[in-house]
Amino acid sequence: MSAPQSGSASARPFAEVSRMRTLHLQRAKDSGEKFSMLTSYDVLTAGIFDAAGVDVLLVGDSLGNTVLGHESTLPVTLDQMITFAAAVVRGTNRALVVVDLPFGSYEESPEQAVRSAVRVMRETGAHAVKLEAGEALAGHVAAVVRAGIPVMGHIGFTPQSEHALGGFRIQGRGDAAAQLRRDALAVQDAGCFAVVLEMVSADAARDVEQKLTIPTVGIGAGNVTTGQVLVWQDMLGLRTGTMPRFVKQYAQLAETAHDAVAQYVAEVRSGAFPGEEHSYRG
Ligand code: KIV
Repeated sequence: MSAPQSGSASARPFAEVSRMRTLHLQRAKDSGEKFSMLTSYDVLTAGIFDAAGVDVLLVGDSLGNTVLGHESTLPVTLDQMITFAAAVVRGTNRALVVVDLPFGSYEESPEQAVRSAVRVMRETGAHAVKLEAGEALAGHVAAVVRAGIPVMGHIGFTPQSEHALGGFRIQGRGDAAAQLRRDALAVQDAGCFAVVLEMVSADAARDVEQKLTIPTVGIGAGNVTTGQVLVWQDMLGLRTGTMPRFVKQYAQLAETAHDAVAQYVAEVRSGAFPGEEHSYRG
């Protein structure tokens, strides 16, 4: 069990913090430090990313695309999120685990949002939830926060509203910058401990980061935000094809896996596998 912590984040460097908490993210904002966030949907990647020092693991509803093969995040259910999130929590020692409330699980009313968030916290052991919510759903966010559950907001391009937003488009440009600012201030006032800015112009992101007292987490929002988040299959090259401009690929896992599996297939066909060392005797 990690040591109890008081109301302020300890001043230890992030790498030495035994359990990341929302307080540490606020400390990052206050002191000009940066933190990293990465998606994870299963116990093995959670363990690897946690050991590598990722500060926040996001069980994103992007699993609808990256794990379940849907065209969008819209079909993902709360039950599915809970199954994947519980696995991530089981693989994590240090990172703060944040879980997306999926489409249809919170928009109806503040009560519905609280019910869904309570299920996530109770059934997974995660540390916080994320809602794709700005000014319009600030009341829902506030209700979840009042229930004692930390909430991360998500504004800018919000994939659950893809159709309402007219597809994948950069948000916060021109006149839209004012609405982005209102969304950010509304979720901060509602009690969010951080807010994701997805696919917004770097200028709009800078404006929001400067106006808010809570940390922002960017994905396609330039490098001014306190935190950065990416989808792991994108950044490790497990997903192939055209990537959004904001993705940097740090590895080519699809290629590595393809070549390894092709070698396995060839060795099975030729009889080279299994060898003596993989066989039982007697
Ligand atoms: O679902 C997800 O992976 C997300 C990130 C893109 C921020 O919400």
